[in-house]
Order: sequence, then structure tokens, then C-alpha cells
Amino acid sequence: MSSSQQVHSIRPRRSALYMPGSNARALEKAKGLNVDVLLLDLEDAVAPEAKEAARAQVCEAVSAGGYGYRELVIRINGLATPWGREDLRAAVVARPDAVLLPKVESLADIKAVADYLAEQGAPDSLRIWAMLETPGAILNANEIAAAAKDPHNRLDVFIIGTNDLSKESGAKILPGRAALMPWLMTFLAIARTSGADILDGVYNNFSDLEGFAEECQQGADMGLDGKTLIHPKQLAPCNKAFAPSAEEVKWAKKMIEAFEEPENQGKGAIQVDGKMVERLHADIGRKTVAIAEAISQHVSA
Ligand code: COA
Ligand code: MG
Repeated sequence: MSSSQQVHSIRPRRSALYMPGSNARALEKAKGLNVDVLLLDLEDAVAPEAKEAARAQVCEAVSAGGYGYRELVIRINGLATPWGREDLRAAVVARPDAVLLPKVESLADIKAVADYLAEQGAPDSLRIWAMLETPGAILNANEIAAAAKDPHNRLDVFIIGTNDLSKESGAKILPGRAALMPWLMTFLAIARTSGADILDGVYNNFSDLEGFAEECQQGADMGLDGKTLIHPKQLAPCNKAFAPSAEEVKWAKKMIEAFEEPENQGKGAIQVDGKMVERLHADIGRKTVAIAEAISQHVSA
């Protein structure tokens, strides 16, 4: 959930699982997983010779449905590649919740797709998500944030691509991710100034659940809304790290209630359990409660 003032919808996006569009078994298995978002990939996870079959298979699965509350997102190939335009055309017909654009670096990258959706008369409910994963996106942060603020561009969510960022920059992904941190927080700023959500990159070593849990916690502490995943094993720890804990919800309610007390009506800062609490803390608390309620609906769906 965005902490910006202009939160349009509260939608849990703790976990977003990639799956290669060419993997029929994964597409089917996804219907039973406890996951908020499915990223059906036509780009990096699909070999050039499998691109067309993957596109057909993904679009068929999206049209057929059966994914319940899970958001369905098709990651298309870049429009400059031999497959991108056809991916976009097919995705608009299949009607996922969003199309995910790889390697976004400019207003033009986003607007080209937004213009196409408008021309095709695609409903406003078909959204655009954008990958931030190159040095160019870091340098053009202001331009991308401005593009995301324009409702014409339908931009709801940014996804950080740490593998491409490492490849393009030469910075290694080591425990703690110190080298990447300034760039990840720059991407967070892009999202927060535009009211979009933002999801962390993947953790490649899916057998190392301990290292994975640490990286989830780091992302949650940084203020990211969720994390992208590559394997179903990563779901449970990720969902836990990106959901408010029971103590956080309890504390949030306590702050909200304290400001509702008659004696605190005119006050900006009060004391709760020996701590200073300002009205901005109660605002954060209201978002914590709202996201916890939205998550409980996913769990019971
Ligand atoms: N989504 C859904 N199901 C998945 C999955 C995924 N991303 N990854 C694995 N599974 C399923 C497998 O189909 C298998 O199901 P089954 O036991 O019912 O047959 C089960 O989980 C166990 O899989 P496992 O044998 O441990 O892994 P694998 O060797 O089959 O696959 C990867 C390993 C890395 C190739 C696979 O996890 C994958 O393709 N991940 C996503 C890669 C991707 O999309 N990258 C692009 C963005 S970074
Ligand atoms: Mg990438």
C-alpha cells in the first residue's frame, strides 16, 4: 500500500509470483496458491523460440480465468523487440488486470502503451505496471514520476528488477544489498510521489529460505509494498513479512482511539504508553488497519 496522500485503492500486493508463460503446469498450479499477484511472463523467462506459444498459452489462461482474487498481470516484451507489439495486442484482447512493461526509462516508454490502450478503447480497469531495472530509470526518476502522476498513463505499480539492475550497472547483489540501496530508494521515491505501489526484486536462491526471509524483512522495513517471487516456496515467508503484525494492528488501533478521546480533540501531539504520538502516526495507523482488513479478505477468499 502506498503511504502517499493519494491512495486510490487499498489492494494487498505482498507477494507477486513470476511464472514463465511457457510453463503450463505453473499457470495451472497458480490457481491454488496463496498469492496476491501473478506475473505471467513473456519476457526474460521465455526463450526466443518459445515466445509465440507462451503468448498464446498465457492469453488463453487469462481469458479462461479461474484465478479468484489474484491480480493477473502479463509481462510483455519491450515494444522495440520483435514480439512486443503483438504481445500488447494479444494482452488487450485477453484482459488481464494489467500489462507489465519491462525496462521502462522514460515518459515515452509508458505513453506509447497508454496511447495504444486508449486507441483500442481498453477499459480503465486495464492498468499499466512498469519495471524499473536500468541505470537509465535512475537518471530519469523525475520524468518517470511525472508520467506516473498523469491518469492517462494508468500507472498503478512499479516493480524493481534487481537482476537486470545488477547486470546493467555491474553492482553485485550481496547480502544486505548495500551497493543497490541508493537506487532502490530512488525507485521508492518515484512510487511515493506518484501514489503508485512498488514491489521489490526477486531472491534467486530459492533454496535459501533464511536469506530470503531476511531480504523480505529488509524490503518491508524500506517501505516497499511487497516482493516479487520466483518459486511457491517463497510465498509464506513473503506474505508474513509484508503484512502488518498483530501487534502493529493493535498499536495502530490504540493510536486512532486515543485521538478520538474528547480530551484529545484539539491536540496535535499526545502521549500513548509513554510515547509521543502525532496525528500523522494515527494516519499511518489507519492505513495499517485498512491493509490488514484487505489481507484478511484475501485469506478468506
Ligand atoms: N510458479 C508456479 N509454480 C511453480 C513455480 C512458479 N514460479 N516454480 C515452480 N513451480 C512449481 C513446479 O511446477 C512444481 O510443481 P509440481 O511439484 O506440482 O510439479 C513445484 O512448484 C516445485 O518446483 P521445483 O521442482 O522446486 O522447481 P523447478 O525446477 O520446476 O523450477 C525454476 C525452478 C526456477 C525454473 C522455476 O521456479 C521458475 O521458472 N521460476 C520462475 C522464473 C521466472 O519467471 N523468472 C522471470 C522473472 S525473474
Ligand atoms: Mg528484467
